Amino acid sequence: MDTHILDGKKVAELVRAEWKVRADKLVQLGVKPGLAVIIVGNNAASAIYVRNKIKACGDIGIYSEVHSFPENAAQDEVLACIQSLNENPHIHGILVQLPLPAHFENNRVITSIATEKDVDGFHLYNVGALVTGNTAFSPCTPYGVMVMLEKNHIPIEGQHAVVVGRSNIVGKPMALMLLEQGATVTICTSKTRDLSQFTKNADILVVATGKPRMITAKMVKPGAVVVDVGINRLPDGKLCGDVDFESVKEIVSYITPVPGGVGPMTITMLLCNTILAAERAQASIK
Ligand code: GUN
Repeated sequence: MDTHILDGKKVAELVRAEWKVRADKLVQLGVKPGLAVIIVGNNAASAIYVRNKIKACGDIGIYSEVHSFPENAAQDEVLACIQSLNENPHIHGILVQLPLPAHFENNRVITSIATEKDVDGFHLYNVGALVTGNTAFSPCTPYGVMVMLEKNHIPIEGQHAVVVGRSNIVGKPMALMLLEQGATVTICTSKTRDLSQFTKNADILVVATGKPRMITAKMVKPGAVVVDVGINRLPDGKLCGDVDFESVKEIVSYITPVPGGVGPMTITMLLCNTILAAERAQASIK
């Protein structure tokens, strides 16, 4: 099989260059796009993600600020911070890094973000907009997957897409976006009985389970397109996805590597959503 590696870094560079032009145009109009990131607690992975997001903002010309709260912070303190960011005209996007500590009510926090600044697309209003095909902000990871498919000219309409994973951040919005583009969509979980019966029928297989290398070659249709959203750290310190890349790459037409596949796209789409939020804010004051 002539396998193509879906190079997320390359597509991310291309998309960032396109959107940098839009960010520069806003700056010329006197509007510098601004993103505020809120992080609560000491989750090591979250700290790394936030650092990477802030660096990417600087590279593309987005102003950014981080609001860090300790693990034992009161929810009301965070809500007050979001309220002041909602009212701050220099901030166009607000992101609360997940997961929050257990004593937080996720929906209470996320729905306190002004819908027009919800660049993660996690506010219930924006989730409803996505469900009804009136998307305001596409959640960054599945949006990145869609853009990667598009930029590689991979057709979606009429294809059977199987999504393994049902999280609010990836699985559910991924399924909705594929459906919107005309795919026939099956949603499975890591616990689906006889999972391979479903995955073997996928023209496009998207895996987001957090289970290292759980998808093996015998579970995949030859010639399929495989997108691996997983990023897992093995005991030896190396990173791997939810797909057994070495065996699966031998039989598919396209596959994303881990790292270097979906990962670089997620942050890129956050930058795009922030620039989009700033464009909309600028248009509304004209
Ligand atoms: N935690 C893991 N992925 C994400 C994401 O896309 N956005 C936020 N806010 N938190 C996350």
